[in-house]
Amino acid sequence: MKNDNYKRTLVTCALPYANGPIHIGHLAGVYVPADIYVRYLRMRGEEVLYVCGSDEHGVPITIKARQQGCTPQDIVDKYHAIIDDSFKALGINFDIYGRTSSKVHSKNAAAFFKKLYDEGKFITKESEQYYDPEAKTFLADRYIVGTCPKCGAEGAYGDQCEKCGSTLSPEELINPKSKLSGAQPVKKETTHWYLPLQDYEQWLREWILDGHKEWKSNVYGQVKSWLDGGLQPRAVTRDLEWGVPVPVEGAEGKVLYVWFDAPIGYISNTIELLPDSWEKWWKSPDTKLVHFIGKDNIVFHCIVFPAMLKAYGDGFILPENVPANEFLNLEGDKISTSKNWAVWAHEYVKDFPGKEDALRYVLTANAPETKDNDFSWKDFQQRNNSELVAIFGNFVNRAIVLTHKYFEGKVPAAGELQDVDRAALSEIPALRESLEKNIELYHFREALKDAMGIARVGNKYISDTEPWKVAKTDMARCATILNISMQICADLAVAFEPFTPFAAQRLRKMLNMDLNWDMIGQDELIPAGHCIGEAELLFTKVEDEEVKMQLDRLAAIKAEKEAALKEEAAKVVAPLKAGISFDDFDKMDIRTATVLEAERVPKTDKLLKLTIDTGIDKRTIVSGIAEYYAPEDMIGKQICILANLEPRVIRGIESRGMILMARQADGKMRFLTPQETLNNGSQIS
Ligand code: MF3
Ligand code: ZN
Repeated sequence: MKNDNYKRTLVTCALPYANGPIHIGHLAGVYVPADIYVRYLRMRGEEVLYVCGSDEHGVPITIKARQQGCTPQDIVDKYHAIIDDSFKALGINFDIYGRTSSKVHSKNAAAFFKKLYDEGKFITKESEQYYDPEAKTFLADRYIVGTCPKCGAEGAYGDQCEKCGSTLSPEELINPKSKLSGAQPVKKETTHWYLPLQDYEQWLREWILDGHKEWKSNVYGQVKSWLDGGLQPRAVTRDLEWGVPVPVEGAEGKVLYVWFDAPIGYISNTIELLPDSWEKWWKSPDTKLVHFIGKDNIVFHCIVFPAMLKAYGDGFILPENVPANEFLNLEGDKISTSKNWAVWAHEYVKDFPGKEDALRYVLTANAPETKDNDFSWKDFQQRNNSELVAIFGNFVNRAIVLTHKYFEGKVPAAGELQDVDRAALSEIPALRESLEKNIELYHFREALKDAMGIARVGNKYISDTEPWKVAKTDMARCATILNISMQICADLAVAFEPFTPFAAQRLRKMLNMDLNWDMIGQDELIPAGHCIGEAELLFTKVEDEEVKMQLDRLAAIKAEKEAALKEEAAKVVAPLKAGISFDDFDKMDIRTATVLEAERVPKTDKLLKLTIDTGIDKRTIVSGIAEYYAPEDMIGKQICILANLEPRVIRGIESRGMILMARQADGKMRFLTPQETLNNGSQIS
């Protein structure tokens, strides 16, 4: 294997924020690929450390706590447990899943800061920040709400309007209010520490742009555009109560910025697990460090954290690669925690017990490796049923069941091989080689295709050779076919371990064998005479009913969201038009009239042709109200019209005048009618 000159591999996964559960986007982007990588290295006998944990600081956690009337610690305790369980349920078993609210971490993160501080690696800057004079605290941007300057929506945050999606700064908000007390925030001087990233720019250019051209193009490209744009000092502290206190005098009420402390969490969690030998993982040039992250984390893992480690010195290693993925969508729409548009890991494992592998499989087959990608339940069902069940599962099941049926569960010895046997076996080494290369290059989708290729070889082989028919006439030939089928089953038990570990484990149990990577494609991997275990199903079908339940759930979320949006839209009031004189108004001849006849204008959806009695004449008006009124709704109704509007020909009909309608912001319209019936032609003023 080409683990270059390294002796061991340290794999980290982005620490998920403990302010909500994890969903398929997290899994597809970070955790499933990392898990494939780690399981693969372990199958190969490599020394690997696999580190993750919860990211438990940051403003959103404090906001959630406030909303729910509990402490930030309560929030992170709750979600840390949910996330930890989800990972375990899906077979993602970190060597440590730590937390940044731990003692070890706050000590370690504070010491990290202190060393950089003592060595003068930071600069300080004074700036004006919003302050809540009633709550007597500085306000994070998220804690300031007001009217969006772009779309006029109420309740826009100081960093973003969720209504129109605009990025904002608190200064731009109209009528800003503190979320804490409702008071108007005031500007107040505050001092913070900054890491002068610009000092590391040249070094970063050499290290990444010159030295790591092999990094994924999305990662390399983002780094390049940051560097080309010029780096700025980055604040590493915040005025906030929740976090790691800044360990210097005069810094009361300040904590480390969450993006400063979180990546140090990788180190802290390693220290917690291996207090005596952690340095071998972080400070030895023999260790290959790989960060698995999503694309929104690229700048932190490729620029900020490396600059922190460089500033610290003391032998800390840098990542050899940062395989970041793009985003996964769900049924064509962006996954959104706040809109509940997601498939949550903890719900999936409840809804689909025993199908953990299916999710891992589909998320890998559809991984957003080079571009954003989509998860749909139909595709999930299709891939599970026609790939895992119909190809991999079906092949293994036939091979195992027939070996029990004809040979009492003992692997029969192979006789002389025919071309068809040799052809099948000869495909495997090439697939193995491609699989290895793809995993080592972080091309997990392709790697999965290679593994699936082995299953296809097996399934085709057994379908073509039909041992159940051959058994009637030629038991020796049947023995050869099943011997070869068993070899391919063993190849699969190894090749699929990284992707579908539960099934691979069941298959090893069926084969009654411990296997390792180097066995793939070997002759006589399973010796003749070896006793296999009972047949078990490797995979089960996903039924239409199950898919429907999931789709119904999503449809309900969408409907709810749309109803809420509509309600909001209806509330908007159009701004006042420019002023006019009384004379302008007086020019309009507005009067009451009664509808005598009404009919649809043929071939239109919107138009009604109305015959009305205006008191002075009978005339025709064509009006765009058919969406709101059927012809029979209008007949006999008294309405108000603008009678002296110049005539217009609409669809070949001369329309004389206009019906007065009130229109709500969402488009809903109603005609105006006097509060009591009056004579037609009564003037309105
Ligand atoms: N919590 C961050 C996120 O979900 C990731 C933190 S990764 C770390 O985007 F390196 F900072 F730990
Ligand atoms: Zn807005």
